[in-house]
Amino acid sequence: MMNAEKQEIKVRRVSSRKRSRDSLKSHLTPAKKRGSTSLGQCPDSTENGVFTGAMADIKATEVCYYCSDNEDLFGDYDSILGDSSFLAKLDCAEQDERRHDSLLKQACDDVLTDSILDDFREESLKDLPATQREFQEEVLEGAKRDKRREGDKTSTPFRNTVEEETERAFGNRTASSPKAKRRVTDQLKRALLCNAAAPSSVSRTAVLKEAVVSEEISFAMQAMETVSAETTDLGPFFGLPTKVKDLICKLKGIKNLYDWQETCLNLDCVQERRNLIYSLPTSGGKTLVAEILILRELLCRKKDSLFILPYVALVQEKVRGLASFGLELDFMVEEYAGSKGRFPPVKRRNRRSLYIATIEKAHSLVNSLIETDRLDNLGLVVVDELHMLGDGSRGAVIEMTLAKVLYASKTTQIIGMSATLGNIKDLQTFLRAENYTNDFRPVQLREYVKLKDSIYEVDPKEEDCFKFSRPLNFKYSSSMQKIDPDHIIALVTEVIPTHSCLVFCPTKKNCENVAGMICKYLKEEFLLHKEAEKAVLLRELRNSGNGSVCPVLRKTVPYGLAYHHSGLTGEERKLVEDAYSDGVLCLLACTSTLAAGINLPARRVILRSPYVATDFLKRSQYKQMVGRAGRAGIDTIGESILILQDKDKTMAKKLVSAPMEICYSNLMHDNGKGVLSLILSLIGLNITSSLEQVKDFMSATLLHVQERQLCVERSLGETVQECVGLLKEKGLVAVSADARGEILQVTRLGKATYKGSVDLTYSDELYKDLSKGLESLMLDSFLHLVYLVTPYDLISQCKPDWMIYFRQFTLLSTSEQKMSAAVGVPESFVARKAAGQTVKKNMNPVVVKRLYLALVLFNLLKETNLWSVAEKFQLSRGFIQTLLSSSSAFCSCVLHFTEELEEFWPFKALLAELTRRLSYCVTAELIPLMEVAGVMESRAKQLYNAGYKTLAHLANADPSALAKNVENLYKKQANQIVASAKMLLNEKAAALQEEVDDLLMMPLDLPQL
Ligand SMILES: Nc1ncnc2c1ncn2[C@@H]1O[C@H](COP(=O)(O)OP(=O)(O)OP(=O)(O)O)[C@@H](O)[C@H]1O
Ligand SMILES: [Mg+2]
Repeated sequence: MMNAEKQEIKVRRVSSRKRSRDSLKSHLTPAKKRGSTSLGQCPDSTENGVFTGAMADIKATEVCYYCSDNEDLFGDYDSILGDSSFLAKLDCAEQDERRHDSLLKQACDDVLTDSILDDFREESLKDLPATQREFQEEVLEGAKRDKRREGDKTSTPFRNTVEEETERAFGNRTASSPKAKRRVTDQLKRALLCNAAAPSSVSRTAVLKEAVVSEEISFAMQAMETVSAETTDLGPFFGLPTKVKDLICKLKGIKNLYDWQETCLNLDCVQERRNLIYSLPTSGGKTLVAEILILRELLCRKKDSLFILPYVALVQEKVRGLASFGLELDFMVEEYAGSKGRFPPVKRRNRRSLYIATIEKAHSLVNSLIETDRLDNLGLVVVDELHMLGDGSRGAVIEMTLAKVLYASKTTQIIGMSATLGNIKDLQTFLRAENYTNDFRPVQLREYVKLKDSIYEVDPKEEDCFKFSRPLNFKYSSSMQKIDPDHIIALVTEVIPTHSCLVFCPTKKNCENVAGMICKYLKEEFLLHKEAEKAVLLRELRNSGNGSVCPVLRKTVPYGLAYHHSGLTGEERKLVEDAYSDGVLCLLACTSTLAAGINLPARRVILRSPYVATDFLKRSQYKQMVGRAGRAGIDTIGESILILQDKDKTMAKKLVSAPMEICYSNLMHDNGKGVLSLILSLIGLNITSSLEQVKDFMSATLLHVQERQLCVERSLGETVQECVGLLKEKGLVAVSADARGEILQVTRLGKATYKGSVDLTYSDELYKDLSKGLESLMLDSFLHLVYLVTPYDLISQCKPDWMIYFRQFTLLSTSEQKMSAAVGVPESFVARKAAGQTVKKNMNPVVVKRLYLALVLFNLLKETNLWSVAEKFQLSRGFIQTLLSSSSAFCSCVLHFTEELEEFWPFKALLAELTRRLSYCVTAELIPLMEVAGVMESRAKQLYNAGYKTLAHLANADPSALAKNVENLYKKQANQIVASAKMLLNEKAAALQEEVDDLLMMPLDLPQL
């Protein structure tokens, strides 16, 4: 109820009189409506952007949803201004109030004074129930905010200056003043909120004002209700309120949109909500465009949006970054990564949701929306790094997700961001999308190669490709020449420590060696550079390792250097990345994983060799790496240097001048696993129920677009038929017949398999293991359950150390040993292996290895110390981290699998708790803090020790106090933590509220007398 009230108040903003339409046709009106550039032309002729025309097969019905009945993009704005009696009285009362109330004159130096960054605690609210308190707090906060606003509107010139400046910067050329409009909204909101809050000390002027306007308010509200019901446009910033651009300025520090961003947002196809792929080089600023479009979908069309990112860390970063937008603009930001996310998502009556998801979670989310017939609520799907369609099994999952959205919803728009590709047309055909391409880079990139003692500039237009640039200046002793024959030290010391440098290395070990080697020859002065900050970093690294710190980092960090690869724990990686971004570290020796998606630019990028492990670099990998060169706003140029040996020269020439990479469908990857699981879920979700329908669906996939190249031995139709046969054979799909012919249906096992996103190869085995597990489930420790959720696909990477295995085995309790013997690993076997004896009896190696991995996890759950477990099992902490996160993800898959199979009922409660434990793997009291996006163990410990013990503590924290109370926590990070915590708390409360509402709803079909 309360939510509904608040929402209503927020959307009412319109008047009884609209502005004349012609006067409103600004540059923000879609080009088509202004009668300017037609499709296929770039509206801004000065740009070198290329915009390819609409696909021929786009149906007219899919074209115009955005502006269909709302051509007037600004019609809802300043019309109240026309009603002089009402406004004049409001203004008059306001002025009066200002003169008399000195409190309201306080200046405020912040553009966004009503921001979430403000403290909203109120002593008097302590005793209220939580939901009521939240509402009351908002009311009071609203009142406080308005006071501050009024104060600064007249007395603080700075606010005006900033507003004008940002307005100018963002090219606001509308005739109306958004500030005036906002003021009207605020005034109304204030009046209503004041009523709701029933303030005890109402000023004389407020009473007067109330008397003057009370009648007119109800009249105005009625008028607004009518207009707001038919309008979707909220303001002058690409259809969004001015507040959005202020937030972008404040929270992201971006004042001006790049020209290409503005052009792209103004494209007809964007205005008309057609699907779009836009491709630009790395660091081109693609994300901002997507975020503006997402906000538009959430705020203007009031539809949910899904933002798909490739990695968990990126999802968490985005959730942290957008939580403040959600709080300010009243939408939910929900994390779908790792074991987080609800399927189907909670229905929210009053607010829209932005789901930020990894590739896999996005797929499950879309499945659950289709299953509950809610896909139409999803207005927009944005895919970052769309070229990952060509990336093995993950690419197949993206393709399935998008194909399902295209097939099952005609109103969901799809936007893909991509690196420049050679066959973008294929993707366009698949997605029925337009394409916008631009080669914009905020910082110019110069590419070089190093051969022997010389540097050559890369120029693919030159005959030789490499043009001599300069000799490399260095003085090496003979011992140094031996240790560093590639002159890496000479190359890096040209830039560090003043500028930053990334050295990409072919292997993980090489990263560590290179970082260590460079340090050996750096001068003492390097130790003095940012000495104190480096000491803090080392302390934090030590905290994150529960007292242990990596010996390589211990040596390199004092010089400002570190390595970065998947062998670091997530927490170490984050600390290293942050320190590099802040300039505390000036060089990272890293593997190619750093190049994907993370925004860590450098003045100079060095590619230590043209290989990743033993494979020669692919063009896309090369482009990703060199693309990191040049930090926008700091460097004027960025440079990359590829170190070459003579033998690699010819290949390297091909590499730098090769045509763009081609992106192929991966549904046939790994013996067609993608096609198999796609068909299973299509049948399970009732999207298709006959072979013909399956074939029809498949003809709308990327695989179909590329059938000629990819289905060489047999046609796609034949492949589909074969796959359906295979699914029947595996007992996942069954056939029944009716008058219309054969009907395909999933079996119980089939349903559990697709619902749990369980790999088809293992679903049988999983079923058997779980069944056997039920016969004698051992519950006096976690070992048995952990064994049942140890991922099958990691088993092949496990090589038990028999001595360690035996030692661990002897530490198990009698019941744990009994359970181990029951699954197939008796103590005698492990003892013999440890003693180096041959074992005649045939043991199942899969079970033996799986139990070994389970022992690692079991130890982790007990000790919660990754470092000591890594040492105990002589495994790298990176592997242990991977094992842990894969297990928690698989545990939640198994949970969904068992939910579909009645016989597995006992597992439901057990696995829900186990998923939670595996996800966080910390002592129980830290879990609520770690639920907040991006809060890792050592930060959670710091917060806990500083007295922030629950989610509510964090959500209600004052960011300044938080930053002061917690060592080395910057204000910006504190703001993000508080914003994310508030968002999570809101989300949890809203979910409970929805449940309450559902429970209390009167059934429509209640039998009557
Ligand atoms: N208009 C702008 N003005 C200044 N900085 C901007 C602008 N737009 C984006 N940026 C900044 O540029 C940086 C790179 O942007 P972004 O991450 O969106 O690049 P990208 O195109 O997605 O590159 P990649 O392919 O590497 O993911 C970010 O730090 C972002 O905040
Ligand atoms: Mg990006």
